[in-house]
Amino acid sequence: MSKLYPVNPEFAAAARVSADDYARLYDESIKDPEGFWKRIGQRVDWIKPPTRIKDVSFDPSDLHIRWYEDGQLNVSANCLDRQLEKRGDKVAIIFEGDDPKDSRRITYRELHAEVCKFANTLKNLGVVKGDRIAIYLPMIPEAAVAMLACARIGAIHSVVFGGFSPDSLAGRIVDSKAKVVITADEGLRASKHIPLKVNVDAALERPGTSSVETVIVVRHTGGPINMQSPRDRWYHTLMEGQSTDCAPTPVEAEHPLFVLYTSGSTGKPKGVLHTTGGYLVYISYTHELVFDLREDDVYWCTADVGWVTGHSYVVYGPLCNGATTVMFEGVPNYPDHSRFWQVIDKHKVSLFYTAPTAIRALMREGEEPVKKTSRKSLRLLGSVGEPINPEAWEWYNRVVGENRCPIVDTWWQTETGGIMISPLPGAIATKPGSATRPFFGVTPAIVDADGKVLEGEAEGNLLITTSWPGQVRTIYGDHQRFIDTYFSAYPGNYFSGDGVRRDEDGYYWITGRVDDVINVSGHRLGTAEVESALVSHPKVAEAAVVGCPHDIKGQGIYAYVTLVVGETGSDDLRKELVAWVRKEIGPIATPDYLQWAPGLPKTRSGKIMRRILRKIGENKPDQLGDITTLADPGVVQNLVDERLIK
Ligand code: WT7
Repeated sequence: MSKLYPVNPEFAAAARVSADDYARLYDESIKDPEGFWKRIGQRVDWIKPPTRIKDVSFDPSDLHIRWYEDGQLNVSANCLDRQLEKRGDKVAIIFEGDDPKDSRRITYRELHAEVCKFANTLKNLGVVKGDRIAIYLPMIPEAAVAMLACARIGAIHSVVFGGFSPDSLAGRIVDSKAKVVITADEGLRASKHIPLKVNVDAALERPGTSSVETVIVVRHTGGPINMQSPRDRWYHTLMEGQSTDCAPTPVEAEHPLFVLYTSGSTGKPKGVLHTTGGYLVYISYTHELVFDLREDDVYWCTADVGWVTGHSYVVYGPLCNGATTVMFEGVPNYPDHSRFWQVIDKHKVSLFYTAPTAIRALMREGEEPVKKTSRKSLRLLGSVGEPINPEAWEWYNRVVGENRCPIVDTWWQTETGGIMISPLPGAIATKPGSATRPFFGVTPAIVDADGKVLEGEAEGNLLITTSWPGQVRTIYGDHQRFIDTYFSAYPGNYFSGDGVRRDEDGYYWITGRVDDVINVSGHRLGTAEVESALVSHPKVAEAAVVGCPHDIKGQGIYAYVTLVVGETGSDDLRKELVAWVRKEIGPIATPDYLQWAPGLPKTRSGKIMRRILRKIGENKPDQLGDITTLADPGVVQNLVDERLIK
């Protein structure tokens, strides 16, 4: 039996949703989804209010997902214009730089003006509704400005995490056929300079990137870069003299808002496409209720805008709700291990949302760096990105939150757009390690490998059986892949790719990915991507990659490499291959372990049996299961003997 933490009565007394509300509203959302989402849809400003609320089929032969279809709206008008009357002088964004001396506060009025100017800039460059714009920026306010300016004119942004390599950036530009790239001279990470513009230059030398007409460069560090005329333009020069007036373009509810690339179990990253109306309703609603948002809160989500968390819960959700949102450029351990808590004290942060990997890393430094700060402004803590182990949950609760702040462990995905399973802090008692219960309108189901639905206490694969407004609509440019990936394994349902257990109280416990996706420090990576980076090295014949347990990262990357004939494994070559993968994909894909494999375990049809490699990487050689179906069972003993974790 796991520990149950009852709802804090003091918190519950003032909370937005009580236990009774949760039961009643959840019930309503399931019995009458149309009526429920019609009412909730009114929380955003519509230029033309929708009359058709939901038109969805999860049937693979007729797959379509449409919400608020005949409505028209503009996301940037919802995040900015409608806030001006009541909240014009309220701080919209608090920027906290990598250097603790560097911070800025931007009001809603100032942000509105900046976004209008940049929207006009984009228009002057010939950007029109439906064009794709790549954003490759550090965590600086200009990233939010760029996103909102795209939304203002109906352009579709594709934010690429600044830690990705030139090749990864190029792949995304090629797939989305971006017309403009918005970047900065350099990024900063623990005082180290990240050569963003240099990376863009390299990316644009790759074949297939000729769709890019203009590169807009924000001067951030002032570091040396080459500006290539007429392609490259400075942000500050373009902005000079632009009007602070720019009428928001009305777009249809199903007009694409953004494409965000994420890793799958096979092939290249896929462009998850989110649209406008349903997405905005869903993420603003979950943001308000899951974080129990109040007018005077200072909300800080530590995610980078390069991930979906940064889209939904740094920029769009908080701004649509008129909240004050912190954008943090730095890292948790620079200048020292108190940084998070110092920032909380400095800006009086009340709602704090971060990833288990950061909590585990800070936990290792002991309690002193936390305890020397006050944190009295905090009233709620959140967790996202990967399963949180109960020890880290307890530490977060006791040391950071001093047993006074409810913890919301929020399960969701790039594809879900917003939070799907999470406690509502005034309504649902928590258990360390459990994301607890579904949000309104979310219908989880657990199935076994044959697709049999399991009732009651059960463990299996996690499906969502009905649509919710925030869900992904398609894979950009590849609708068939969308159907195949999410709706074909269990026809009529959305398949999450996660495993889950439901306990005796109906609480959900996410057990991790059941496909060939790994979760490294809360970042999603396809094992196939790392493998293809490895085999692109001339000395590598074959590679197989699996996840392995890692104390801080949650999962580490374990690679088995077969060299071409005539090459032998050495420490130098190992270092070279690790550096190669970092260069090909980015530092987040750095292999933690790289084992030389004279042979890989394959079936007679040539398929690599990753199940066996996973067990070896987990140091469980006694659990390999049946290996008699392998083409050459003999390869296994060598891999077991030479394993790197013992
Ligand atoms: C995968 C999605 C959610 C936005 C950030 C990551 C894992 C996410 C939790 C959680 C257990 C979690 C799942 C999911 N995951 N949150 N609270 N508990 N697992 O988005 O990159 O699309 O990754 O992250 O495995 O499928 P993403």
